[in-house]
Amino acid sequence: MANTRGDAGRVEQGGSAPKIAVIDLWKTFAGREVLRGINLEVDAGESFVIVGQSGAGKSVLLKHLIGLIAPDQGHVIIDGEDLTNSDAARSLEIRRKFGMSFQEGALFDSMDVLGNIAFPLMRHTRMSGDEIAARVRQCLALVHLEGVERKATSELSGGMRRRVGFARAIALQPEILLFDEPNTGLDPITSGVIDGVIVEMREHLDVTMVTITHDMKSAFRIADRIAMLRNGQIIATARPEAFRSLADPYIQKFLAGEPVEEEVA
Ligand SMILES: Nc1ncnc2c1ncn2[C@@H]1O[C@H](COP(=O)(O)OP(=O)(O)OP(=O)(O)O)[C@@H](O)[C@H]1O
Ligand SMILES: [Mg+2]
Repeated sequence: MANTRGDAGRVEQGGSAPKIAVIDLWKTFAGREVLRGINLEVDAGESFVIVGQSGAGKSVLLKHLIGLIAPDQGHVIIDGEDLTNSDAARSLEIRRKFGMSFQEGALFDSMDVLGNIAFPLMRHTRMSGDEIAARVRQCLALVHLEGVERKATSELSGGMRRRVGFARAIALQPEILLFDEPNTGLDPITSGVIDGVIVEMREHLDVTMVTITHDMKSAFRIADRIAMLRNGQIIATARPEAFRSLADPYIQKFLAGEPVEEEVA
């Protein structure tokens, strides 16, 4: 991975500039250092997966990428632009490049499926009702959920809820998609279906994807590269086949699904 950082910590513009660069990111909550100098780069069009055990700081890291949490120190650079140093108006613009599927699914239960997916379109575009309905249909087709527009969210299975969440995340045609634990709480078969949908979205949409998970099976299915987050740092980044043979004993235990020690409190 080329180091494209300039002297002032800025990413040089040019064909090889990463889509996302995280530079020496630190975050402390109530005296606990959750992120302790994170560095990573995600290339345009790549499916980048961050793994780590529960409490490692995966969700906190993901929320920094989209500017929902501000770091104590360090930078998040999107397309060469420093999100962390941008004014409010500019960071909103940068945030528009993202679609996010949250860990909890986070559908609006007061709205049906159509309402959920139409929400960002109504809020951020001037599309007509017909155009919105057509776009919602298109998004649902991409996640293989045709014809469920009028279903209440309570009628959906866990896997369907995730897919409606994905459809909402892609509604505004984002350049970057973030997935927080897309498989949590799903049975292995549904989990496989969800991974398949993620792989397909990557093929059909012109997007860069960052997914966080503690499910290695899922990571191997969807990743171009896998990064391991441990104790607030990225301890390794590798392509899936190389990741399997990393010598680090912690990673080997994690891969084998063996118990690993708790994160440092
Ligand atoms: N807003 C917050 N205020 C205080 N502490 C927080 C906040 N958000 C996260 N934390 C703490 O940061 C640590 C990392 O949390 P995070 O949610 O990122 O873990 P995770 O790796 O996503 O875990 P999981 O796999 O269980 O989702 C935890 O100790 C959590 O309590
Ligand atoms: Mg989390």
